[in-house]
Amino acid sequence: MARTIFVTGAASGIGLACTRNLLRQGDRVAAIDLNADSLASALGPDTENLLALPCDVSNPAAVEQAVARSEFQLGPLDSVIHCAALHSPSFWMDLEADEFNRVLQVNVTGSFLVAKAAAKAMRARGGGAIVLTSSANVLAGGIGGQAGMGGPAYVASKAAIVGLVRSLARSLGPDGIRVNAVMPGVTETPMIAKYSPENRAASLKQIPLGHIGTADEIADVMCFLVSDASRYVSGETMIVNGAAMFG
Ligand SMILES: NC(=O)c1ccc[n+]([C@@H]2O[C@H](COP(=O)([O-])OP(=O)(O)OC[C@H]3O[C@@H](n4cnc5c(N)ncnc54)[C@H](O)[C@@H]3O)[C@@H](O)[C@H]2O)c1
Repeated sequence: MARTIFVTGAASGIGLACTRNLLRQGDRVAAIDLNADSLASALGPDTENLLALPCDVSNPAAVEQAVARSEFQLGPLDSVIHCAALHSPSFWMDLEADEFNRVLQVNVTGSFLVAKAAAKAMRARGGGAIVLTSSANVLAGGIGGQAGMGGPAYVASKAAIVGLVRSLARSLGPDGIRVNAVMPGVTETPMIAKYSPENRAASLKQIPLGHIGTADEIADVMCFLVSDASRYVSGETMIVNGAAMFG
């Protein structure tokens, strides 16, 4: 049966791959990203099953409104796949408080706001599934920043997702809401466009499966985590990185 799924970061990379995957399966998707133009150029015009909603996920009122509009136009929310995030490769010495706070605001507070607004809606109909996004940078420390690699703000923000998932899974389980995260390794999306050739080669060398992950390979796992096939999985952060770096 067709479901309604709220996907953030839907104009690019992994969120875009999730959106296309779900639309192919016949689901209805509320596609969220920062601006209408980037959504339209990635996904084309709205259809019966696709509603593009420009929204900054770090803005509480905007997130509440986006969930309400999604429910009004596409029906009760079944699941959320939250991919929207800011990258921050700044080396520790160049990283100022403003940038650090902004990264936490978008990546951590934004994840909480999206999960909270969705959970309020899902509780009303007896359950749902939420998938947040961490990063395998958390396991390696992000190599300290620069050259496209995650620096301290990004790595700290993605580590916070592991705790957020556990806390929300505990609180929302009794309402039938599952909460999980995916922890992708290096994935071929615009987020890694500034990787130096040396960093790219070094990343590749660490991946026993022999290639940098594709957005579709991560999206497939996210879609599994909002499917009925994962109905007894909650509170987990699933590493999806081609067997690179076990910790
Ligand atoms: N690509 C990688 O190597 C990699 C590795 C580990 C984790 N991740 C995580 O996967 C997720 C998806 O990343 P991606 O690689 O597809 O990146 P991407 O840059 O291709 O896409 C991120 C999207 O989020 C949107 N966005 C940013 N800030 C937003 C905000 N405040 N409100 C709404 N939308 C906003 C951007 O406009 C963009 O379309 C992110 O959470 C990222 O941290 C990516």
